Amino acid sequence: MIKKAVIPAAGLGTSFLPATKAQPKEMLPIIDIPTIQYVVQECVDSGIEDILIITGKGKRSIEDHFDRNLELEERIREREDEFWYNELRHIDSMANIHFVRQKEPNGLGDALYQARFHCGNEAFAVLLGDSINDSNIPITQQMIDAYEQYRHTIIAVQQVPDNRVNRYGIVGGRFLSERIMQVSEMVEKPQVGKSPSNWAVAGRYILTPEIFPAIEQVAKTAPQEVQLTDALRLLLPTDGVIAMKIDGQRYDIGTKLDYLKTTVEFALKRKEFAEPFAQFLRERLAQYESSK
Ligand code: G1P
Repeated sequence: MIKKAVIPAAGLGTSFLPATKAQPKEMLPIIDIPTIQYVVQECVDSGIEDILIITGKGKRSIEDHFDRNLELEERIREREDEFWYNELRHIDSMANIHFVRQKEPNGLGDALYQARFHCGNEAFAVLLGDSINDSNIPITQQMIDAYEQYRHTIIAVQQVPDNRVNRYGIVGGRFLSERIMQVSEMVEKPQVGKSPSNWAVAGRYILTPEIFPAIEQVAKTAPQEVQLTDALRLLLPTDGVIAMKIDGQRYDIGTKLDYLKTTVEFALKRKEFAEPFAQFLRERLAQYESSK
């Protein structure tokens, strides 16, 4: 049974400057919900309520977001706005959230290493904040189900266009079934044309405690840029690593253009915005096309 999740949120957010100069990337909203709240919701929807968020310098607003804000609650109560009062209380009680800080920005592997005491001897889920998902069964739940079956490290993957492999961790191996691959190769951001495949690591993992000594090994040779993919590669010969094709829609929010697309997609999914927003887009696009 997977009971714990780790959400690394310590990155500097350099791909989102200047918005991330003084606020965490994870607090950038898709419409009105900070991206990290979607990620926490995915854990909760997958039955995980014990969540460790790895933060770092300048990330305090993430802690505030999941804490109570008594002054705001009082104001909203005075206005008898029950809807928003309940919403606020939902956010601070949705899960049991802990925080630990990564003291130096030494890469994703090093960030995860900060979770070693929290996770102890149990397998745990890892959710990166650079994607959010929409699927009938939450992606993390799909991963947990795969772990129950295989009892090995599970990595979520999806196919990306050949010219985008250099933006992801890439796995190679042999498909055991339509959605399951036995991984035999892993490489972080390979050059286009030199990739083992176009199956990209999709930001969700089930890891076992064996990952921590592997991270230590990687840190010996690359202390300032400890890649999780490199640590996972060390597990390939001994531990068996399974890649699972995700069943659902993944929204990348790691770059500005992807973020913009995701915002539009989510606006079109929201009942109160869908019609007026679609109307606006139609008119605006017609104008745009005719002015070219
Ligand atoms: C990280 C991982 C990479 C993965 C990607 C997308 O890269 O290192 O393996 O494919 O997330 O989830 P980053 O986007 O942080 O550079």
